[in-house]
Amino acid sequence: MLLTWKRAVIAIAAMGVAGMLFAWSGLFNVAASVPHFAVTNWFLHWVMQNSVWTYSVGTEVPDLSDPAMLYPGAGHYESGCASCHGAPGQAQSPVVAGMSPPPPYFPEAMDDWSEAELAWIVQHGVKFSGMPPWPAHAERADEVWPVVAFLRELPGMSPERYRDLAFGPAADQALRADLDPGFQATLADCARCHEADGSGRGAFVPIIAGQKEGYLKATLRAYADGTRHSGMMQPAANDAGAEMRDRLAAHYASQPPVRTDAPVAADEASLERGRTLAERGRPQDGIPPCLSCHAPTAGRDPAFPILDGQHARYLEQQLHLFHDGARGGTPYAHLMTGVTRRMTPEDMAGVAAYFASRPVPENVAETTID
Ligand code: HEC
Ligand code: HEC
Ligand code: HEC
Repeated sequence: MLLTWKRAVIAIAAMGVAGMLFAWSGLFNVAASVPHFAVTNWFLHWVMQNSVWTYSVGTEVPDLSDPAMLYPGAGHYESGCASCHGAPGQAQSPVVAGMSPPPPYFPEAMDDWSEAELAWIVQHGVKFSGMPPWPAHAERADEVWPVVAFLRELPGMSPERYRDLAFGPAADQALRADLDPGFQATLADCARCHEADGSGRGAFVPIIAGQKEGYLKATLRAYADGTRHSGMMQPAANDAGAEMRDRLAAHYASQPPVRTDAPVAADEASLERGRTLAERGRPQDGIPPCLSCHAPTAGRDPAFPILDGQHARYLEQQLHLFHDGARGGTPYAHLMTGVTRRMTPEDMAGVAAYFASRPVPENVAETTID
């Protein structure tokens, strides 16, 4: 029989109709209790590998060598990944192991992915597999890097090291007997990343001790309703619930302020540039003096957060996010979009270093907002 275009089209259409009939008949077995054929497994994984490779080409990998990255990386792994992929000293649940395909058990081994590929998988997830995307995947591609740094070290990690990274001293800290158990449990969870005193574990987690109550309250609400974007904080704020969030805000605001212990890596010229912006702004670029809103004395207004003594790395990152329109925040966050519009990366590094080097103020008495 001669193969003509017409016959080819008819044959393909017939196959389509047959496929639809088969799907309609209900005979295809979607039961996850029946594992994929080995060849199906191989094929699906092969398709995934090719896709991940193609889409992660050209990704710029930042420096992942800072050990401080591992705290939020491990902390988030414990809350968002361990339930499926297991953790050192913690076997995978039989319920999860029955998924088709099953999530790989990372404490033992991981396929040979590059860092760019891991970042892509963690940011976007994998269709048809149960592997979810990062909660704020559109805005916060930057946030997956601490998780990638941690995944790199995970296979073969000892349970003790995992406990130290993902829980830290919070796991052993005597909990305050005067607090009710529900509040204690939530504080212990926050402490895994922020430390019990709110000082932030390493330069990738902000200091929240002594921050203004109104700002903390509005910020936790913004994370929970998704108007401030963070794959790490959105779940934590959401799970806490509205009443607990307000208690948390009051609690951390009343903690004695602490200052960053991370060395501020900036030279004199950069610090001076930061000081000038903070005190005088740059009118020709529409940049107001930061201190007109952020000075602790002018700062009785609870909408303006205290920046003094905060980790420079955190401040700089937030400025980039405002500049790129990816930060979100409370209903006052738009003020920062204008401020950062014409700031250069050098401005941001300088002013972040300047605020990190300022002494922390006493706990501020503030008027309350709602
Ligand atoms: C609901 C369960 C679930 C959760 C939660 C989950 N994953 Fe997965 N993950 C999977 C499944 C299932 C696969 C297998 C996908 C495949 O092979 O096609 C997978 C695959 C992966 C892979 C590719 C591994 C490989 O070799 O196939 C990485 C990396 C990964 N997950 C990291 C993470 C990280 C990091 C988190 C937390 C931010 C996370 N996963 C959360 C289910 C989950
Ligand atoms: C997995 C680690 C982790 C856990 C657990 C965690 N946080 Fe965070 N938190 C972070 C990181 C990282 C940021 C910075 C997020 C960003 O870029 O928006 C942050 C930001 C914050 C901020 C905003 C600070 C600012 O200056 O704007 C507050 C407030 C906060 N966290 C409170 C909490 C509270 C309360 C809990 C417990 C319910 C908690 N966090 C649990 C890692 C964590
Ligand atoms: C008109 C008032 C105003 C001025 C001027 C201003 N800010 Fe802000 N800034 C805010 C407000 C309001 C927020 C809180 C945004 C939110 O999360 O809703 C904020 C937040 C920030 C944050 C994030 C803090 C955190 O804990 O996440 C940084 C960093 C910051 N500002 C830096 C600066 C710098 C640097 C300047 C000067 C170049 C500046 N701001 C000028 C009002 C101002």
